[in-house]
Amino acid sequence: MEESVKARIDLLRKQLHEHNYKYYVLSAPDITDKAFDEMMRELQDLEKAHPDYYDENSPTLRVGNDINQNFKQIRHRYPMLSLGNTYSEGEVADFYERVRKTLNEPFEIVCELKYDGTSISLTYANGALQYAVTRGDGEKGDDVTENVKTIRSIPLQLRGNNYPAEFEIRGEILMPWTVFEQLNKEREQQEEQLFANPRNAASGTLKSQNSSVVASRKLDAYFYYLLGEELPAEDHFSNMQALRQWGFKVSDATKCCQTLEEVFQFLNYWDKERNNLPVATDGVVLKVNSLRQQKNLGYTAKSPRWAIAYKFQAQRSLTRLNSVTYQVGRTGAITPVANLDPVQLSGTVVKRASLHNADIIQKLDLYLGDMVYVEKGGEIIPKIVGVDTDSRLLLGDKVQFITRCPECGTPLVRFEGEAAHYCPNDSTCPPQIKGRMEHFISRKAMNIDGIGSETVDLFYRKGLLHDISSFYDLQGKDILMEGIREKSVHNILQSIRESINVPFERVLYALGIRFVGETTAKKLAFAFHTIDALEQATLEQLTAVDEIGKRIAESVQLYFRDETNQRIIEKLRHAGLQMTLSEARMADKSDKLKGLSIVISGTFTLHSRDEYKNMIEKHGGKNLSGVSSKTDFILAGDNMGPAKLEKAAKMGIKTINENDFLQLIK
Ligand code: IVH
Repeated sequence: MEESVKARIDLLRKQLHEHNYKYYVLSAPDITDKAFDEMMRELQDLEKAHPDYYDENSPTLRVGNDINQNFKQIRHRYPMLSLGNTYSEGEVADFYERVRKTLNEPFEIVCELKYDGTSISLTYANGALQYAVTRGDGEKGDDVTENVKTIRSIPLQLRGNNYPAEFEIRGEILMPWTVFEQLNKEREQQEEQLFANPRNAASGTLKSQNSSVVASRKLDAYFYYLLGEELPAEDHFSNMQALRQWGFKVSDATKCCQTLEEVFQFLNYWDKERNNLPVATDGVVLKVNSLRQQKNLGYTAKSPRWAIAYKFQAQRSLTRLNSVTYQVGRTGAITPVANLDPVQLSGTVVKRASLHNADIIQKLDLYLGDMVYVEKGGEIIPKIVGVDTDSRLLLGDKVQFITRCPECGTPLVRFEGEAAHYCPNDSTCPPQIKGRMEHFISRKAMNIDGIGSETVDLFYRKGLLHDISSFYDLQGKDILMEGIREKSVHNILQSIRESINVPFERVLYALGIRFVGETTAKKLAFAFHTIDALEQATLEQLTAVDEIGKRIAESVQLYFRDETNQRIIEKLRHAGLQMTLSEARMADKSDKLKGLSIVISGTFTLHSRDEYKNMIEKHGGKNLSGVSSKTDFILAGDNMGPAKLEKAAKMGIKTINENDFLQLIK
């Protein structure tokens, strides 16, 4: 029986690795998503029922978990160097000439795209992923292995069997344009700070403390450099082909050039064509193909002499600044927007550019009518990078940040340490009210279908909606009006009715408390269990919750002290919304380890380290990575390091074994 369970687990793991590869690396799946999900679920269930068959590279780990991690630093076996940059064909020709002179024999140059993401170094042993480490300072970086495992196009287990026993591979982790745009759209709706470009989004995501966040962000990765003692071939280009066979994504936009002329052709071709790629690139990397020749050329202190980067020109246009308008968001944050004469830039017509905040306007020293440079350097929203002061003939008005809300006239405020200005009139400023209603019904909040921002606006203007609780007063006869069909009315009402089952943590998020995003709402719900307890919580109780700082705590208190908000909550409670964490969610959690800081050390037999980490979190404890005066006890497995043991003994810190620990949380 046990034998066959193990065989089934092995088979599912193997098949899921294969399907992942076909889907994410080859973009050619051969089963339906549904069939894939079913296999994944079966494996998850089996693994849960049989924890002894834990495998740290199981495809189920691709979904991540919400354990907070403090990244360990790992030293790179081979330092991660940077590349010299060039910006013109002339400089590329100089590089080519230097190589020719030094080598004094025929050579080839491999041209590859320079992917604009965040670099990563992976170590594989016997075909299995061991570590994923960020660049860091080039000598040592952060151990982001758990996060990287959630990136589906990175093989956890290599294909075939002719790979070296041990090697390192370097590549770039990227957020595809479509994912980036969607993410920013969601962040905009939630008034979270936007990522400036996919590179920042990718590196921010990779450093996330929570691997399930990484899993949800759909990162991708391309690989371009193989290092190790025994490599399959004597040249870079062939090694890249080998990587592809082992299951890595290697760009097809790669060419082995025999002449400088061919190199130039590659540069010119991709300068335009790169706009059609799914991910961001910022140049071309030129590498001497032969590894022997690479060795002969060697390195300077910072970069190889056998490779160089050619950077594409950021696309820039000159146009006129006509006006600056100000938008008011859900939390009252004011965003200045520049309105421009339409101008062609990287294939699209640009009419508007973000000016971000008052400091940026000040720095640019803008006057209306100025000719300004707009640039799209990887960013999706174009930005103004400078002013052509020479063409300033007649000085228009200086752009001054507004002092009153453009929608309701209330004087604006600016909180200490924040770049944004806010309209503090949250109770009657229309865009804030409408913004809160749109947030309330959004998918991750109450998920009320059938109403978009135009309908919210219409109902608001008709006096049918005035705050988030009024959704539950809507009657069919009121909303059956011109432009809204009977079927839509039915759907809207049905969707509102169903929303009363949305779990408490999402209701909390839906309220739209400033700084309380999805994750924070979850943390608060699990810490306080009911809205009443949260309402009563003191500043100390709030800040005692993991990752809740003073800023969030104060905002929560401010929210609940407001009488209008109290009335809204009462109405929502009356409408039947979930104001308590469900029994099922609570059953998983307890306070048994509340306030305790615990270090896990050694190897375990009953559960994996990750499972223990998870249990500690669920029962209110905190995982610490190193023994210190803050440690309450050590959950000690076998083979705990002698240094740690000695330190613990010296500091009088208790160690407990896994049986005792399980007893403790039972
Ligand atoms: S090769 C020693 N190839 O550019 C040479 N790097 O400025 C190792 N990058 O840190 C790098 N695409 O993050 C190489 N095709 C490519 C690349 C590439 C992007 C990044 C990488 C590196 C940086 C160098």
